[in-house]
Amino acid sequence: MILDDKAADPRYLYIPALRGEEFVSMVSVPIVTPLGHLVGVLNVHTRARREFSGADVELLRTVAGLVAGAIENARLHRRLAEREEALESFAERIVEWQERESRRLAGEIHDGISQRIVSLFFHLSAAADVIGADPALAAEQIGRAQELAAAALDETRSAIAGLRPPVLDDLGLAASLDSLGHSFPGLDVRVDAAELRMAGHVETAVYRTAQEALQNAAKHASAQSVRIRLSQHADRVLLEVSDDGAGFDPEAQRAASEPESGVPSPAGLGLSGMRERAELLGGTLELISAPGRGTTVRLAVPFTPPAYPGSAQSGTPGWPAHPPG
Ligand SMILES: Nc1ncnc2c1ncn2[C@@H]1O[C@H](COP(=O)(O)OP(=O)(O)O)[C@@H](O)[C@H]1O
Ligand SMILES: [Mg+2]
Repeated sequence: MILDDKAADPRYLYIPALRGEEFVSMVSVPIVTPLGHLVGVLNVHTRARREFSGADVELLRTVAGLVAGAIENARLHRRLAEREEALESFAERIVEWQERESRRLAGEIHDGISQRIVSLFFHLSAAADVIGADPALAAEQIGRAQELAAAALDETRSAIAGLRPPVLDDLGLAASLDSLGHSFPGLDVRVDAAELRMAGHVETAVYRTAQEALQNAAKHASAQSVRIRLSQHADRVLLEVSDDGAGFDPEAQRAASEPESGVPSPAGLGLSGMRERAELLGGTLELISAPGRGTTVRLAVPFTPPAYPGSAQSGTPGWPAHPPG
């Protein structure tokens, strides 16, 4: 409360557009939201000098309280709208991803696995034809058939591994991240993961984020080493994947990738997919990178315990069993 000579009062800030010189007394009350956040100040000026009464201040506090409630509602509303938008675009991407995955799987089965089984069949027939007359030739044909069977098995495994994190349910997140690290032979991957059990969909999201970040480090960064860290801080879970590679300008990349230019990689939905997934879980995704300085992907999501203690499987009802990417 300033009754007169406000220019001499250190609390008064003169802003020409507000024409302070036309007013004499003023009173200010903070605008504090129901959740306790200070979001602004409500100032009232009078042309004539005025002694503000307790009732005046009380009235202003009430008005400030109403304004604060409205501001908080507007903010919550905006956050909700953003989540909803993220959800919609994520749902679209899930459908696109499923289509692409089906095509990929069909391609792998048709070009790889079934071709091998066809030649396997011919080698076995050839062996059957000569097994009496020329056992050595038959043995050679069977040997070729065995190699083909092994190759078909490998291809089947990798086709399946592209579909869902194969180890999450069995090993848990920490060990799955470990084994993920080992699946990039060209990279020296260090994994430092806390033993956490969380709801299945959160574990899958964390795993997929790590997988995509590792894939990017291998594919784009020419990195030599990668560090994966998983930790819990109060009610948040933090995943960090740092590489020592080429780095890039995340802002420029983000601008260039909007809207849907470029085909997202099959195992994930790229950086934008990581971001959407983080937002959907009420978390955040940060990219810390600059050309020549390596890249850190930092995912923070609320810690969500498994639906049933002791099991981290399947997650929330209604959530797709295998969220993509
Ligand atoms: N770790 C990284 N190091 C360097 N560049 C990266 C890294 N991660 C992403 N990028 C850059 O960002 C682009 C987009 O990545 P992403 O969305 O994962 O799509 P994709 O991997 O399919 O190209 C990449 O093409 C690359 O230029
Ligand atoms: Mg990628």
